[in-house]
Amino acid sequence: MSIADLRREYERHGLLEHEVHGEPMGQFARWFEAAREAGVLEPNAMVLATSDRSGRPSARVVLLKGLDERGFGLFTNQESRKARELEVNPHGALVFFWPELERQVRAEGTVEAMTAAEADGYWAKRPRESQLGAWASPQSQRVGSRGELEANLAAARARFGDGAPVPRPPHWGGYLLRPDAVEFWQGRPARLHDRLIYRRSDSGWSLARLAP
Ligand SMILES: Cc1cc2nc3c(=O)[nH]c(=O)nc-3n(C[C@H](O)[C@H](O)[C@H](O)COP(=O)(O)O)c2cc1C
Repeated sequence: MSIADLRREYERHGLLEHEVHGEPMGQFARWFEAAREAGVLEPNAMVLATSDRSGRPSARVVLLKGLDERGFGLFTNQESRKARELEVNPHGALVFFWPELERQVRAEGTVEAMTAAEADGYWAKRPRESQLGAWASPQSQRVGSRGELEANLAAARARFGDGAPVPRPPHWGGYLLRPDAVEFWQGRPARLHDRLIYRRSDSGWSLARLAP
């Protein structure tokens, strides 16, 4: 079968104006919980798009690690490509795709660095091996070989000993995407999908339906 013949009908749910939450993070929290309950493999995996000074985009999967009324939180190396792009252009976009529920969520907004206290809070919850890995990996930079990375890890292990807490690297931290727009997409039959978009306005959030 060719790729062009791959298709599915979407018919599991609908999304109507009267049933959604008054603000987008509340609606996101509902859908996120539903994705967890439905057994989506990594419900907090999302694509983060950034762009460089000239507007050229780049995108990668990261994990959602914080969620509140302000927006979406994630953690990464602050010398990585995404971090460097956010330094020159603090606008970002996120996409979640939960195929088991035939749902997509898109968010666009400004991205700001979290405080050191917020980064410390999440760092402390990470497994020790992940903490050591963060010290060992100069994310997005060219490395000579796999062996070089493994040597970096061994050096981090030796440096931080066996039991003592591993400190947070100065170049590791969090970002918060504060959305200006969040769209909820629900697959429907005959490609007449539901798309409801919240947009930030002076008086709060407006809600509109978009054609699929
Ligand atoms: C499921 C999944 C989860 C990931 N989670 C993260 C994450 O939370 N933070 C992160 O920095 N990279 C994460 N990555 C790796 C990124 O996709 C990417 O390779 C890395 O951040 C470097 O991207 P950059 O060079 O564009 O900065 C994840 C990858 C996958 C496939």
